[in-house]
Amino acid sequence: MAGCCAGLAAFLFEYDTPRIVLIRSRKVGLMNRAVQLLILAYVIGWVFVWEKGYQETDSVVSSVTAKAKGVTVTNTSALGFRIWDVADYVIPAQEENSLFVMTNMIITMNQTQGLCPEVGSFSWKEPWTSRPLRPCLSAGCGPGPHGPCFHSFFFFQIPDKTNVPALLKAAENFTLLVKNNIWYPKFNFSKRNILSNITTTYLKSCIYDAITDPFCPIFRLGNIVANAGHSFQDMAVEGGIMGIQIKWNCNLDRAASLCLPKYSFRRLDTRDVDHNVSPGYNFRFAKYYNDLTGTEHRTLIKAYGIRFDIIVFGKAGKFDIIPTMINIGSGLALLGVATVLCDVIVLYCMKKKYYYREKKYKYVADYDQGLGSESDQ
Ligand SMILES: *[C@@H]1O[C@H](CO)[C@@H](O)[C@H](O)[C@H]1NC(C)=O
Repeated sequence: MAGCCAGLAAFLFEYDTPRIVLIRSRKVGLMNRAVQLLILAYVIGWVFVWEKGYQETDSVVSSVTAKAKGVTVTNTSALGFRIWDVADYVIPAQEENSLFVMTNMIITMNQTQGLCPEVGSFSWKEPWTSRPLRPCLSAGCGPGPHGPCFHSFFFFQIPDKTNVPALLKAAENFTLLVKNNIWYPKFNFSKRNILSNITTTYLKSCIYDAITDPFCPIFRLGNIVANAGHSFQDMAVEGGIMGIQIKWNCNLDRAASLCLPKYSFRRLDTRDVDHNVSPGYNFRFAKYYNDLTGTEHRTLIKAYGIRFDIIVFGKAGKFDIIPTMINIGSGLALLGVATVLCDVIVLYCMKKKYYYREKKYKYVADYDQGLGSESDQ
């Protein structure tokens, strides 16, 4: 009972505080300040100024539309004189965040399907899958034991060679208008890439250029590919994929007019010089029609072209008290590292470590080995 009272008295009427050892040494003192300075420079310079640790951040939400423009004329023996406009070379008419421009093609006209008995050996192969095809005798032959055969696929499809140079090589001069709306939901901030100072007349005539017109949202297809370090005419033959990147990095502590898009371009289908199997980008589609007798025909088109993928990314930051306090707190905690580091050096690495250790620690022998033999050695 008495012990309990003594304990309570000690708790109430005594105050304990750690004793601090002051080492009067220029070397150690300077080292401690140097480490503190480094940590302070890191916290202020890197965390606060460079990484803007006082800001809350948000990533971009965006929507994109793209529209191509341009007309060209081709004159080939297979097709004759032909005009190509947007409705012919943009497939499909509209897509999300990307746009395909056909630059080259293989056209097979007037294909019909028929049912007929199997004739001859399995020497005909479907050109793209190498499955055997059965040739038909004529369009009017009766149904055969092995199901449908294809009347004229193989006649036109077998010389499967791309045109060099690309049929629509003039697509180099076509343009692409990219409209991009962005939104930072956390800050309820929205903006579009057609900036408020862009006039209708400017938009009618401008072409994006990194130096002279960095905010014009109209891109010449040839320039997009050239900016990525490739040749449009090479790419047009077998097709490929180009990325148009729009970066919106915004500091919303400053004026909204300083939040501007930054465009960059890269080719997304990588091409190895020494491993060039199945290069490019192509697909097939068909247009169906009926002739006067009601027979269905189709025109098969193997389209080669460049798909432009529009990739929008970015981060916005704005002052907020919570990240500021968190970073100040962790910065102060980090200052404690200076003490730990100096302690390690002073007590374990320096020549006079035994002297410092003696001064820092109060040595106490174990209770069994002699009560009261404790001493400041
Ligand atoms: C693109 O336009 C320029 C200038 O109008 C012209 O000289 C050039 O031949 C065109 N390029 C192609 C591939 O048609």
